[in-house]
Amino acid sequence: MKVAVLGAAGGIGQALALLLKTQLPAGSKLSLYDIAPVTPGVAVDLSHIPTAVEVKGFCGEDPTPALEGADVVLISAGVARKPGMDRSDLFNINAGIVRNLIEKVAVTCPKALVGIITNPVNTTVAIAAEVLKKAGVYDKNRLFGVTTLDVIRAETFVAEAKGVDVKDVKVNVIGGHSGVTILPLLSQIEGVSFSDEEVAALTKRIQNAGTEVVEAKAGGGSATLSMGQAAFRFGMSLIRGLQGEANVVECTYVDGGSEHATFFAQPVLLGKNGVEKVLSYGDISAFEANARDAMLDTLKGDIQLGVDFVK
Ligand code: NAI
Repeated sequence: MKVAVLGAAGGIGQALALLLKTQLPAGSKLSLYDIAPVTPGVAVDLSHIPTAVEVKGFCGEDPTPALEGADVVLISAGVARKPGMDRSDLFNINAGIVRNLIEKVAVTCPKALVGIITNPVNTTVAIAAEVLKKAGVYDKNRLFGVTTLDVIRAETFVAEAKGVDVKDVKVNVIGGHSGVTILPLLSQIEGVSFSDEEVAALTKRIQNAGTEVVEAKAGGGSATLSMGQAAFRFGMSLIRGLQGEANVVECTYVDGGSEHATFFAQPVLLGKNGVEKVLSYGDISAFEANARDAMLDTLKGDIQLGVDFVK
């Protein structure tokens, strides 16, 4: 397996690369790319960790050498939020970065599974799809918006609130990845129950958890370490699926034929070709159904912005 991380010198990229170097299956290759000149040094640094994972680092304007032969590409290149910004404020810079990188993916490794971390995810994934369509290589089963951070936050906050072991808490988070489009399905969690007030407060906290970090970092960026872990979990799930492991399921933002929007995050069974099957998100409460319906205009607007950007 070869995994390429684009944006590898950044806060997320370095945390993710460290986890991949220590935990990818023996014999894997890890390829790091960033425009920052430090990137080959990040690779040398990681290469001193004694695991059977070969690391190479590339910088400069062209990601092509990093992408050659990649099975999985994880993209966290771009700018992150500062206090007072929401994810859509990142669009002007990050849209062009994602477009340019995906143009190279389309030429160099069109069969790779691509996970987009760069915000605004609701829009950058649509941009990636349009670029791949233009290049004639779009396969909706191979493109993913990484929303795993919402899932791990939901699991952590629920365990904290209810005093249960976080290992036993599984939460589906559906919709998209910003504000009201993040919808944790708290009603489905086994073994715990919530009052209406608790549901409203926990849902809001999960939706605003990114801002919690942005404010706490006071201008120093957004979530990087928890996102590194989330991207690692998602990347490993892609790899486990590629390797033929059964029952690998993650919530992720895909072009999966949802009745709600072209792209929608929901549980997805992963396999040798990426998306094996988009799974139903199951029964939901009236509160959740209302929240789902109320988010759709925002989500569709975010998607359209991406489509229009590439046109
Ligand atoms: P960062 O600023 O620490 O790192 C970004 C890296 O991208 C930098 O090293 C920069 O040199 C690099 N870069 C910029 N343009 C590039 C290009 N054209 N090609 C290659 N590399 C390029 O930012 P951080 O904290 O790592 O965040 C990265 C992105 O991830 C942001 O857009 C942020 O909003 C997003 N994010 C997504 C989350 C999610 O849940 N999907 C959660 C948290 C952040």
